[in-house]
Amino acid sequence: QKLDIELAAIEKGGYDHFMLKEIFEQPQTIFDSLRGRLDAKNGTLTLGGIREYAEVLSNANRIVIVACGTSWHAGLVAEYIIEEVCRIPVEVEYASEFRYRNPVIGQGDVIIAVSQSGETADTLVAIEAAKEKGAIILGICNVVGSSIARASHAGAYTHAGPEIGVASTKAFTAQLAVLTLVALKVATEKGSINEQRFQYLLNELEAVPEKVATALQLNDQIKAIAEKYKDARDFLYLGRGYNFPVALEGALKLKEISYIHAEGYPAAEMKHGPIALVDENLPVVFVATKDSYYEKIVSNIQEIKARKGKVIAIVTEGDETIPAMADDVIVVPEADELVAPMISVIPLQLLAYYIGVLKGFDVDKPRNLAKSVTVE
Ligand code: G6P
Repeated sequence: QKLDIELAAIEKGGYDHFMLKEIFEQPQTIFDSLRGRLDAKNGTLTLGGIREYAEVLSNANRIVIVACGTSWHAGLVAEYIIEEVCRIPVEVEYASEFRYRNPVIGQGDVIIAVSQSGETADTLVAIEAAKEKGAIILGICNVVGSSIARASHAGAYTHAGPEIGVASTKAFTAQLAVLTLVALKVATEKGSINEQRFQYLLNELEAVPEKVATALQLNDQIKAIAEKYKDARDFLYLGRGYNFPVALEGALKLKEISYIHAEGYPAAEMKHGPIALVDENLPVVFVATKDSYYEKIVSNIQEIKARKGKVIAIVTEGDETIPAMADDVIVVPEADELVAPMISVIPLQLLAYYIGVLKGFDVDKPRNLAKSVTVE
C-alpha cells in the first residue's frame, strides 16, 4: 500500500492533485497543440489531419459543432471565432439534443465533434447519424485512436496528453488552440482573412503559452480569494463575447469541484433574471478583459455594485477602471480577444480548485461525475 501511495505521488509530479498538475501543465500543453502546425515566423499554418478536407470545409454551407460539457464550451468560443474569420454560419449543439431532435442535415454541412475522451456516447451517436445524412465530420479529440476520432472523416488531435482529473482543464485550452488553428486554416483557404490579420493572429496564438504561464503566477492570490468566498451559497459568472463561454466554464468548474451552485450567464442577459439574486452575499465573477465588449461590461459591473453584490473581476493589465469598482481584482496579460479565453479561464480553474480543496472535497474525483460518459 505504501508503494501505491508513493507511485501516485510520483504520477502527480509533486502536485497535491492531478487537477492542479494539469492546470499547471497548460503552457506546455497549449504549446504542444500548436507545435508543428503553427509557424508564426514564416507565417504558415499546417494541419495535416484536415488537409484533404480544407476545401470542403471552406465551401461549407454551415458548420455545426456538437459536444458535451466543457467541450461544448470550447465549441461556443469556436463559433465566435469561425464566424468572425471564416464568415460561415456556425451552430453549437449539445450532442444529446442534436441527435434526438431530427436535425436538418445534408450535403454541404460540416459537423465538428469536440471531445476530450473521444468516447462520449451522445457525441459519437450524433456524428454517426449526421454522417449517414451526408455530412462531413471533423473530430477534435484528445485521445488518439478514440471512437470519435475513428468515426470522423478528418480531424486534428489536441495533444494535451492524458487528462486524469475528472473536471477538464488542459483539454479545454488545447481544444481552443486547435479550433482556432482550424478556423484560421479555413479562413485562408476561403480567402476570408487578409494576410496582415492572419499573421497578427498567428503571432497572438504563438504568444499564448507564455501568457498562460504568467497567469499561473496568480496562484497564491487566487488561493486567498478562494478562502474569502468559499462559504458562499451561490456564485454568478458573467462574461460577454468570447468571454461568455469562459463564464459558463468557470461556473461549471465550481459546480463540479466545490458543489457550490454556480450559474454562468452572458453579462447583458443577467438583467432578464439573475439580477434578482444579487445581494451582499452573492459573489459575481466578471470575465472582463479588454476587448470590444469592454465598455458594456463596465456598466454591467456597475449594475451589480449598485445592488451590493461582491465583484471578483478578471481584468487586463493596465486597466484602471474596473479595479476601482471591484472587490477583488485578478490581472491577466493582454491578448487579442480571439485567443483571450485560453488565458482568462486559468484563474477560474484555480479558483474552483482551491475552493474545492478548502472545502475538503476530492477534487480529482468529484461525486457523481465520470471522466468519460459512455452511456446515453
Ligand atoms: C464528462 C466530463 C467532462 C467533459 C464531458 C465531455 O462530463 O466529466 O469533463 O467535459 O464529459 O467529455 P468529452 O470527453 O466528450 O470531452
